[in-house]
Amino acid sequence: MQHMCKIIDNRKLCSDIFEMRIECPEIVREAIPGQFLHIRVKKAVEPLLRRPISISRIHRDTGSISLIYQCIGKGTIEMAALKQGEYIDVMGPLGNGFSLFNEERCAVIGGGIGIAPLLELACSLKNCDAYLGFRHDTFMVDEFASVCKETCIATEDGSVGSKGYVTDMIKDITKYDVIYACGPKAMLKRVKELCGESHVKCFISVEERMGCGIGACLVCACKIKEGDTWHYKKVCTDGPVFAAEEVDFDD
Ligand SMILES: Cc1cc2nc3c(=O)[nH]c(=O)nc-3n(C[C@H](O)[C@H](O)[C@H](O)COP(=O)(O)OP(=O)(O)OC[C@H]3O[C@@H](n4cnc5c(N)ncnc54)[C@H](O)[C@@H]3O)c2cc1C
Ligand code: FES
Repeated sequence: MQHMCKIIDNRKLCSDIFEMRIECPEIVREAIPGQFLHIRVKKAVEPLLRRPISISRIHRDTGSISLIYQCIGKGTIEMAALKQGEYIDVMGPLGNGFSLFNEERCAVIGGGIGIAPLLELACSLKNCDAYLGFRHDTFMVDEFASVCKETCIATEDGSVGSKGYVTDMIKDITKYDVIYACGPKAMLKRVKELCGESHVKCFISVEERMGCGIGACLVCACKIKEGDTWHYKKVCTDGPVFAAEEVDFDD
């Protein structure tokens, strides 16, 4: 599961968003949309822990994978400094990934960097609609537009597309049978409400801090409802994709 992968490209898309493409034929053979890679950015003591980053595109023709990441702290800043030709230590593919409902009417809903895992999903679904929300800078819109039936954009400042939140753009969620979403907790909570009210099937990809990434340390526990009770599941191995109805956001 652990691979040293050559960096084919690592470039800035906008402000603090980067795309890294790595050569990893073994991972490509196994990977499905919604899974993630656990990356040891450097051999040095710091940063010690691996960083979980979603698989954004699986390029089966070239045996490579694209990762879209936001520079927010030590690990991702180090990642952005890596150059073409260098190697990174990658574990994966990890996690359960999305179940595909190709025959049904589907939409993907993403907020900010949460759109990253939805691109490969949109490519696999074919003919889904995409609702993408950003604060101000947009990225990967053309890639979604090239594979989706309709792509709707919202920005919080109104600089591109509709002004407001991505969920405000969805006027009639009942035109879909299945919704897939990834993004900030508040967005996922709203998507869950919208789908719950209209009995639309909904799958969400959630984020938790991670240690091992393989189910051994319990750092990534997430509260799951089952009937009137609840228990914890591990985001790294039971997720990161869950049915929205089972995730308890009120924790
Ligand atoms: C399943 C999964 C998929 C993800 N996919 C992507 C992706 O495609 N692109 C992307 O930009 N980000 C993604 N993230 C978030 C990404 O893992 C964090 O932004 C990253 O670990 C931050 O590391 P850092 O060292 O730069 O930040 P720091 O804040 O310095 O990190 C300190 C510690 O907190 C953890 N951490 C910080 N923020 C998060 C977070 N949001 N989620 C989980 N752990 C966090 C770090 O892993 C590290 O252990 C994903 C997270 C998960 C759980
Ligand atoms: S990160 Fe260790 S159990 Fe999930």
